[in-house]
Amino acid sequence: MNVTVCPAKSMDGIITLPGDKSISHRYGILGAIAEGSTTITNYSTGADCQSTLGAMAALGANIERTKDGRVVIHGGKLREPATPLDAGNSGSTIRMLSGVLAAQLFTSRIGGDESLSRRPMDRVMTPLAQMGASIEARDGRFPPLTIHGRPLHGIDYTLPMASAQVKSCVLLAGLFAEGDTLVREPIRTRDHTEIALREFGADIESHHRVIKLTAGARLTGRKLVVPGDLSSAAFFLVAAMLLPESSLLIHGVGLNPTRSSLLDFLISMGASLKVIDIHQVGGELMGDLRVRASKITGGVIEGALAAALIDEIPALAVLGAASENGLTVRGASELRVKETDRIATLESNFKRMGIRIDTAPDGFHIPGRQKFHAAEFDSAGDHRIAMAFAVAALAADGPCVIGDAGAAAVSFPDFFSTLRDITG
Ligand code: S3P
Repeated sequence: MNVTVCPAKSMDGIITLPGDKSISHRYGILGAIAEGSTTITNYSTGADCQSTLGAMAALGANIERTKDGRVVIHGGKLREPATPLDAGNSGSTIRMLSGVLAAQLFTSRIGGDESLSRRPMDRVMTPLAQMGASIEARDGRFPPLTIHGRPLHGIDYTLPMASAQVKSCVLLAGLFAEGDTLVREPIRTRDHTEIALREFGADIESHHRVIKLTAGARLTGRKLVVPGDLSSAAFFLVAAMLLPESSLLIHGVGLNPTRSSLLDFLISMGASLKVIDIHQVGGELMGDLRVRASKITGGVIEGALAAALIDEIPALAVLGAASENGLTVRGASELRVKETDRIATLESNFKRMGIRIDTAPDGFHIPGRQKFHAAEFDSAGDHRIAMAFAVAALAADGPCVIGDAGAAAVSFPDFFSTLRDITG
């Protein structure tokens, strides 16, 4: 599907966003494992999170949707799926679920679409093997995975890369393992799994990036609310900053400190951005964001910031091209193994609109004050590339076409209609 996006002067109004993708996956998985029923309000409408629910249903969880859109999961013991599990486009689903499946006393197979089939799984296979798991992969490291479940034992594992998915995989395997599980993080990553496990009743502690899960946890169903997705908000924040007459309120967004460096970074570059009405739900912070058109200086993303902003870099790259001094990203080679090689897909699409970008194996530099020329883009099936270039199109000098725009549905099915509703 192609979508045409016309230039706009403003982004105005009040919006709410789909539930946070990361948190939805975790609540979906834990709800299916926990005894009793879990009711989730504002579960992500994104295709990725539906893949997680589909997999949990195939593993025996009873999942219903209420008329008002809540997801109710009746969980407990998982059973052998009748057919291979389909993670679709979702790295979080396959990586986190591998930890659960490795500990079940049955064999399962899990794979996904073309993009997922190119993404590395050895990062979860290595720690799981140390816990006693038996997993086969295509060419030793790619989906589909065949997981021969067996009893696992806890480990003390130091993550070799900043990855919340790997951390979560090990902790979820640890739920079923004999003995405690420790994960040490060199760089802090999103801690939704730790928070969710605590909510569901596990004994889990975290100090100075060392997470300890005590063996023998018994999870019980909960009533939970998923805050709006801050990574989806990033596209609207950037658009509102770029368009000269904007004033936008984004209601009920997740503000977990392991995710909210985005806001600090934007404010450090001069963004007119206010956080209003912060409160807690299920251990997660949420609040409203008020954003106005802003003059952005530009900046550098590296080190721990690169890990913290990894999903927002496509949106920030667009802002960087319009900023005063440009944007430099270093130490972000993880971008190369996302839904697409995002350094390459950013480069090819920026070039289509006449924007200069100098790439490196682990990042890029985009000079500031560049003109956005109308172009035809190609999302290459990557939701964040589709949405980033839709935002760039709003600031272009003529109508732009987003090729394969349907990819946005992976995290935000109503992205383009929301965009249309609030641009003027
Ligand atoms: C996610 C972790 C990040 C992120 C992804 C979602 C999660 O991936 O890029 O979109 O929900 O844990 P990595 O753990 O591979 O860095």
